[in-house]
Amino acid sequence: MQFKLTEEQLAVQEAARDFAQNELKPGVIERDTHMTYPTEQVKAMGELGFLGMMTDPAYGGGGMDTLSYVLAMEELSKVDNSCSVIVSVNNSLVCWGLEKFGTEAQKQKYLTKLCTGEWIGAFCLSEPEAGSDATSQRTTAEDKGDYYLLNGTKNWITNGGSSKVHLVIAQTNPELGHRGINAFIVETDWDGVTVSAKEDKLGIRSSDTHTILYNDVKVPKENRIGDDGFGFKFAMKVLSGGRIGIAAQALGIAAGAYELAVAYAQERTAFGKPIAQHQAIAFKIADMAADIEAARLLVYRAAWLKDQGLNFDQASSMAKLKASDAAMKHSVEAVQIHGGYGFVKEYHVERLMRDAKITQIYEGTSEIQKIVISRNIFKGNQMYL
Ligand code: CAA
Repeated sequence: MQFKLTEEQLAVQEAARDFAQNELKPGVIERDTHMTYPTEQVKAMGELGFLGMMTDPAYGGGGMDTLSYVLAMEELSKVDNSCSVIVSVNNSLVCWGLEKFGTEAQKQKYLTKLCTGEWIGAFCLSEPEAGSDATSQRTTAEDKGDYYLLNGTKNWITNGGSSKVHLVIAQTNPELGHRGINAFIVETDWDGVTVSAKEDKLGIRSSDTHTILYNDVKVPKENRIGDDGFGFKFAMKVLSGGRIGIAAQALGIAAGAYELAVAYAQERTAFGKPIAQHQAIAFKIADMAADIEAARLLVYRAAWLKDQGLNFDQASSMAKLKASDAAMKHSVEAVQIHGGYGFVKEYHVERLMRDAKITQIYEGTSEIQKIVISRNIFKGNQMYL
């Protein structure tokens, strides 16, 4: 087993850390308060190559491994999770999905712009009545010969307002169940696409989450992804990879809160000594460090399995389950260690605590991760080689 990062991976980690600390941190509280979309920051992330990290350079991507992407996600998420979710959706769900399952023409047309941030992508699966139960798609894509007619409503769409490209999951043949579902590339300036108001959220407040309405949208046949009926498996496969990105986000939240707590515990004195020297605080810090390291190993291993071309479905769900629990638990602890200061925005930990919650919900709730893990166990899928 190799635990040492390569020179290239260390360089990516350092670049992401510098960008997060120097470019994202200064305005993050303001953007969070006013739900301001990070337009300039997204542009800069595109220029720095954070939006198409794993994509083949032939399509304008960085050609990096998943572990490099995870390292970048972790650093960005220590500071600004509205920015890191944009990075995660664009990289793992949209670019990776198109590169893995798209046609050459689709890759040439869409990936080249998505990797640079010229266009941003969104992944449109969830519906008012199909969140966890993803096979119950009500959005329909009627086959009209040389095009599909798309009708329906998608909920909780990250990048909903800022995206030019949507990957939309819709039902074409209801009698076939999940085998009748297709995935389509839809451009948001086509007739019939309506973006509703931005959601006012507990966390990741400056990312733009919207409901999207599709009303008689004509989708050309060549914009279907994969064979007829492949849409549900496309969504599941893409979400498996996406969960590594969200696990890395959760890891970054936990690690960011931990770093702030360690620094504060050494500065703040009470009863005549730094609070770090009180066992109540020192033990909290030790628990945080051990849990975060355990989550980190799961996240890095899921990335490694994906890079080896091995099955990573169970590993990515385990990584997301444990990293999101660590993010929630230890961001709360970091607020506690900060006392009253932790409850005010200036100290950054309350934002991380609010951001942590969504990592237990999106790209499959913790309960969904347990379904995926337990089904893999009972199917006899091995975690180890
Ligand atoms: N890869 C390939 N195929 C897969 C698969 C995978 N990882 N997982 C399942 N499948 C296949 C199954 O093999 C099966 O195919 P066959 O019938 O041909 O064998 C088919 O898909 C149906 O599978 P299931 O019977 O297991 O389906 P299910 O209805 O029981 O649901 C589930 C499974 C895991 C609960 C799934 O519905 C799920 O993951 N739900 C959560 C959806 C989710 O994560 N939503 C998040 C929204 S996106 C988001 O949050 C993005 C954002 O903006 C941040």
